[in-house]
Amino acid sequence: AFVVTDNCIKCKYTDCVSVCPADAFFEGPNFLVINPNDCIDCDLCPVECPAGAIYQEDEVPENQKDFIKLNAELSEIWPRITEVIAPPKDAKIWDGVENKIEFLII
Ligand code: SF4
Ligand code: F3S
Repeated sequence: AFVVTDNCIKCKYTDCVSVCPADAFFEGPNFLVINPNDCIDCDLCPVECPAGAIYQEDEVPENQKDFIKLNAELSEIWPRITEVIAPPKDAKIWDGVENKIEFLII
């Protein structure tokens, strides 16, 4: 399955949901996750993400491996999202900031 990682936090552009044929995205207050059971590994979403936050499970950077479990767990409690919505007003400011996990709102 594909995995949403740190740089999505506080950016949340949601372009990714527009291409997912499996409706595999779930929405939290400032982050999106992919349900690994829904994802069909089509590889369409990584290139859609302006923040470059989506990786195939085997290619998640070493320092972001925790996001594999986070995607699986949070996608069980957050609602599904299937439509693009406006990103946070300050999304651009946060794009590229490292270790935003401390700002993750669950
Ligand atoms: Fe959806 Fe395909 Fe991305 Fe999986 S790889 S989350 S199926 S767009
Ligand atoms: Fe997040 Fe990128 Fe989607 S910032 S909401 S994974 S387009």
